[in-house]
This record gives sequence, structure tokens and C-alpha cells, in this order.
Amino acid sequence: MTLIKNICCIGAGFVGGPTMAVMASKCPDLFFHVVDINKKRIEAWNNKDLSKLPVFEPGLKEIITRTRNKNLFFSNEIKNAVESADIIFISVNTPTKTRGLGAGKSSDLKWVEACARQVAEFSKGDTIVVEKSTLPVRTAEVIQKILNSLDSESQGDTDIKNFSVLSNPEFLAEGTAIEDLENPDRVLIGGEDKSAMLLLSQIYENWIPKEKILFTNIWSSELAKLTSNAFLAQRVSSINSISAICEVTGANIKEVSRAIGRDSRIGSKFLDSGPGFGGSCFKKDILNLVYLAEYFGLEEVAKFWEEVVNINNWHQKRIAKIVVKKLFGSISQKKIVILGFAFKANTNDTRESAAIRICKDLIEEGAELVIHDPKVNPLQIEIDLEMKQFTEIKNESIDNSNKNYGSWTFSNHLNIFDNAHAVLVLTEWEDYKNIKWFNVQKKMAKPAWVFDSRSIVDVDLVKESGINLWCLGDGSSKDEISYF
Ligand SMILES: NC(=O)c1ccc[n+]([C@@H]2O[C@H](COP(=O)([O-])OP(=O)(O)OC[C@H]3O[C@@H](n4cnc5c(N)ncnc54)[C@H](O)[C@@H]3O)[C@@H](O)[C@H]2O)c1
Repeated sequence: MTLIKNICCIGAGFVGGPTMAVMASKCPDLFFHVVDINKKRIEAWNNKDLSKLPVFEPGLKEIITRTRNKNLFFSNEIKNAVESADIIFISVNTPTKTRGLGAGKSSDLKWVEACARQVAEFSKGDTIVVEKSTLPVRTAEVIQKILNSLDSESQGDTDIKNFSVLSNPEFLAEGTAIEDLENPDRVLIGGEDKSAMLLLSQIYENWIPKEKILFTNIWSSELAKLTSNAFLAQRVSSINSISAICEVTGANIKEVSRAIGRDSRIGSKFLDSGPGFGGSCFKKDILNLVYLAEYFGLEEVAKFWEEVVNINNWHQKRIAKIVVKKLFGSISQKKIVILGFAFKANTNDTRESAAIRICKDLIEEGAELVIHDPKVNPLQIEIDLEMKQFTEIKNESIDNSNKNYGSWTFSNHLNIFDNAHAVLVLTEWEDYKNIKWFNVQKKMAKPAWVFDSRSIVDVDLVKESGINLWCLGDGSSKDEISYF
């Protein structure tokens, strides 16, 4: 194959949608067809009202306006898109298996396998198949086997099909996806078929300098993606574990982060403490690595990485405990305002958000939560909390009517502080940095508390307003430390 014209991406999710949108904007001569089995998702991608796109990312709306229905198309027509494609990106979900062999650790590859089968059936001629999804090491081998075996089955088909499988993991971070895609630190292409690798590279070269494009063997590429996420998550767990030490010793995590970040060997990025890492990838990818290590009998390696997840779970749990303790050991029927439900700012994604665990724990303690988030849909919160939103109408079938248990409601306005005993900041949305705490204080029940798990509130303003303040990792207000 010498000429690439049509590109298909299977999976119109948080990766497939934004990635193809940026590629389409950078390669106006190529056609990008993003397909998905989920009809609602495709409808949302095609919605004229751009506030209804299924993914919120700064800058995405503008790119979609420029490219959609010009050289970027969203549809459920998988067969057509695969048939005409020269390159097919597989960008489907790869969650952790919930049952069977490897449950709780290894990736469930059923969606990837389904894609491989669709590609084998519908593709024509030479096709480059690219793993965009994050996959366990040696998945490319599985995909290649499926493609070859089904191809040889294609009964009397006169068309000869050839497949080259490449690994091209995506390193974007939600919240900065467009920036990351437009100016990535590197693009990784793993494979054995050099000409296919060069063809894929040529697409990226439309906007990415050649020296940023790395070629590796296919297994290194797959492993590099898992390792990259494991290192990032480990860094979050490391700083969060130190924040707990700061709180009991009188140190301050922001000062510690600043001091260690100046060491060029450590670097200053990813050193903000928070309520624990979330997102669909970190936990899943580490557990994948743990499974891989266990599979090959590397028990110590497995234990080392598993601890990064364990301490994150512990850290999420400890936040709710602190809130209960500070509010005199009981939060039953106390109103608590939750600021932010997304796993980080600038995304509407709540997958594995620390807010889920923390809100569940607070509700279990009997709190009445009012959850605010500028981008998250309350229907998603209902799914995450496995609990319907409280409605005034008495309805026996609604769990919230049980008063031993708490409840939650949602608001996307910030006029929700009346009679609140506490405000808990869980996502670092910009809106929360400018809250007028003096006005808020007047409305809150006393003693009023602000719990800031992101260290973003204006400490002076909160303190001057008379509200009690707890900041994650700040032990500086400790009166007495009995250590020696
Ligand atoms: N979300 C991130 O920040 C991120 C970053 C880098 C890599 N990744 C990896 O990228 C992959 C995709 O992640 P995501 O967040 O976009 O997932 P997602 O769940 O948002 O999207 C996946 C989409 O694939 C569709 N799909 C599944 N099987 C299909 C099939 N056979 N045919 C057509 N469509 C199908 C689903 O309906 C869904 O819309 C995962 O492997 C993930 O680990 C994610």
C-alpha cells in the first residue's frame, strides 16, 4: 500500500472521538470515519447543539465545528467504514474483567476481539490495523491470529486480504486531550512491518516533528503504555501518602512538593496531592501489569505495583473519615456540599472518580449531599452512586426515604450553601477558586467547615470568613505534636 485515503476508527469514546477530530483537522486531505455500536453516542457526536457532545474537552467543540461532515464523520455504519478503510484504529473500551480467569486484574478483551472479527469480515485488500486502545502485552499477536484465521476462512472470496497490526497507544490526558493530541510529548509506533509503520508515521508528520515519533517493537510499545500509566499513578500515590504524614507532623504538602519538584531528577509535574487518582485508566492499567507479573511468576513485582492501587483506595476512604471526625463524629442528616464529581477538572468523565467512593461513604454515614459539577450529568451520578437522586415527593420505592441512610441531590448552580454544615472540594474546577467565602459563611450552619482535598480554595479568604478549614496535606495548624 502506498496511499492512505480513508481512515476508520472503531470506538467513538473519550479517545476515539477527540483523537480522530484532531487528526481530521490536521489532515484535511484524508477522510476519517468514527464508528460505534452505541447509537446514542453517535447521535450525540452528530448533535447540532455542541454542548451535547458526549465528551467535554476544552477546544473540542471548535475542532468539531471545523471538521464534522467535511472530512470527519460519525456513524453506526461499521461495515461501510471498515470496507473502505486503509487504516483502522481500534479504540474500544478494555475494562478490567469482572469474572472468570484473571477477574479483577486482567483486561476484558471481548470488545477488541469483536473488532478484530468485524475487520476480518468486512475489510478489503491491504489494511493496517492499529491498536489505539491500551492493551495487555502481546495482544497484537491475538489480533493478528484472529485476522489471519478468519481471512483464510473467507470462503472463495476472490479478494486477497492482508493485514499489518501495529501498536500506537494513546497518551492523552483527559481535560487536556486536545492540547496533548496537537502537541504530544511523543508518538509511539510499535510493529514489525516497517512500511506500515512509515505510512502511519506519515499521517502524524502532518503536524508532529519527526523526532517526536518513536519506533519500537510491538511488545515494547504495548508495555510502554501500561508502564507510563503505572508510573504516573505511582507518583500520585506517593505524594498522597506523604500528605498523610504532613497532616500528622505539621508539615505542608504544598511546601514539600515545591521543594522536591525543584530537583531536576524528580521534576515538578504530577506532584499535586488530591483525593486519590481516578479515571478509567490508571487502576485498570496497573492491575493489568500486576496480572502480567503474576502470570510470569514475578510475585514481588506484582505486589509492588498492586500497592499503588491499595494505597489509593485507602487514601480515598480516609477523606470521608476526616469529614465525619471533624463534624463531631456524626454527619447524619447534616447537609454537605460536594464541589466537583468529575475525576479531574475540564472533563465530564466520572469513571473511577474519587468522588464516587467518598460520596458513597458520606451517604452511608447519613449525610444529605448536594453535589455540584459544571459538566457532569446527574444521570451519570445516579449510575455511579447506585442510588436515585432525592426527590421531595415521598415514594416508598426510593431508597433515600430510609432516614438512617443519607441522600443526594444535584445542582449546577453555586447557590447551594444554605444551612450546609460543610463544603467538600473534590474536583479542581476553576469556578471553585473564586468562591466568595465571606458570603457563603453567612448562609452555612455553624460551626461551618470547608474541606479542600485539592488545595485550591483561597486559604486567607476562608479563614477570614470564620469558616474552619481543613486542607489535604496541611499539618501546619496542628497545635501539638507528641512524637518524641
Ligand atoms: N480515556 C482516556 O483518557 C484514555 C487515554 C489513553 C488510552 N485510553 C484507552 O483507550 C481505550 C478507549 O478508551 P475510552 O476512554 O475512549 O473508552 P470509551 O468507553 O469512552 O469508548 C469506547 C467506545 O467503543 C465502543 N465499542 C466497543 N466495542 C465496539 C465494537 N465492537 N464496535 C464498535 N464500537 C465499539 C463503545 O460503544 C464505546 O463508545 C481504552 O483501552 C483505554 O484504556 C484511554
